[in-house]
Amino acid sequence: LTPPPKTVPFSPPPPYAQPTEAETAVWNQVSAVLEEAHGILAELQSYNGAGQEIREAIQNPGDLQLQEKAWNAVCPLVAKLKRFYEFSLRLENALRSLLEALTSPPYAPMQHLEREQALAKQFAEILHFTLSFDELKMTNPAIQNDFSYYRRTISRNRLNNQQLEAENEVNNEMANRMSLFYAEATPMLKTLSNATTKFVSENKTLPIEDTTDCLSTMACVCRVMLETPEYRCRFTNTDTMLFCMRVMVGVIILYDHVHPVGAFAKTSKIDMKGCIKVLKEQPSNSVEGLLNALRYTTRHLNDDSTSKQIRALLQ
Ligand SMILES: *[C@@H]1O[C@H](CO)[C@@H](O)[C@H](O)[C@H]1NC(C)=O
Ligand SMILES: *[C@@H]1O[C@H](CO)[C@@H](O)[C@H](O)[C@H]1NC(C)=O
Repeated sequence: LTPPPKTVPFSPPPPYAQPTEAETAVWNQVSAVLEEAHGILAELQSYNGAGQEIREAIQNPGDLQLQEKAWNAVCPLVAKLKRFYEFSLRLENALRSLLEALTSPPYAPMQHLEREQALAKQFAEILHFTLSFDELKMTNPAIQNDFSYYRRTISRNRLNNQQLEAENEVNNEMANRMSLFYAEATPMLKTLSNATTKFVSENKTLPIEDTTDCLSTMACVCRVMLETPEYRCRFTNTDTMLFCMRVMVGVIILYDHVHPVGAFAKTSKIDMKGCIKVLKEQPSNSVEGLLNALRYTTRHLNDDSTSKQIRALLQ
């Protein structure tokens, strides 16, 4: 197991870790993306969908006014969904830059996290955003309902001008990619784990351990922060605790997707028993959602190599 770190490489927000000179270029790039993250979450949170309009249109297929009303309600929503999707691509690029910076030779993962605290913090914020986004998406069935109504309507009325105009905004190829994205139970996390896997496979000279050690070290830091009373009393509010919990779960899932044997095996550098235990001890109603993320979005939980004890803890 990775020994607990002596220092806490990144402090939970606020205050925000300031970038050193060497970190500045990547930090600025990622910052520009993270600045939008809050707005995206707010928009998703207030996403109400066009369920009512769609229902009425479907129930009255001959009523053109109702068809138009549903269409006019759905179009701006699809534009929103496109913004979310495009944001996932920017987030993917940001993650890539951070992975490059946090795994570049000659430093070990722990040294990176100590030297580049501001970047480690941004990495954590990306994961925090990702799990928050997916939690909201998962509990909002309107998203897929709106989008499939949009697609059905387009394919039914190929020749309507107004609809062709809308198609320019979300052309067929874009619509296909968006469909794949929103069909995922946890689309943002899937984007990040795909990107991490790609990063690892593209960099043949970079040992896979350099990336996975970076992730396991972050998981360890979060676990230690959650289970150590000295750190915990510095958590000024429950948001900070939730931040640590989300980041811990996020890096575990990424690790599990990227590492050949995953996070649950005996040889895993993540103390899964410790992580699950500390998660269950937190007084937060987000715990169940995070446990579900471990249950349903990891790859190796059901492998034979997973110990009975860990399985039982997640049951
Ligand atoms: C992740 O990668 C898989 C396999 O290449 C692909 O089918 C899936 O659509 C990707 N998901 C996202 C959200 O990028
Ligand atoms: C990983 O590969 C990308 C693209 O091939 C390259 O730009 C980058 O420098 C590589 N990073 C490391 C740490 O090797």
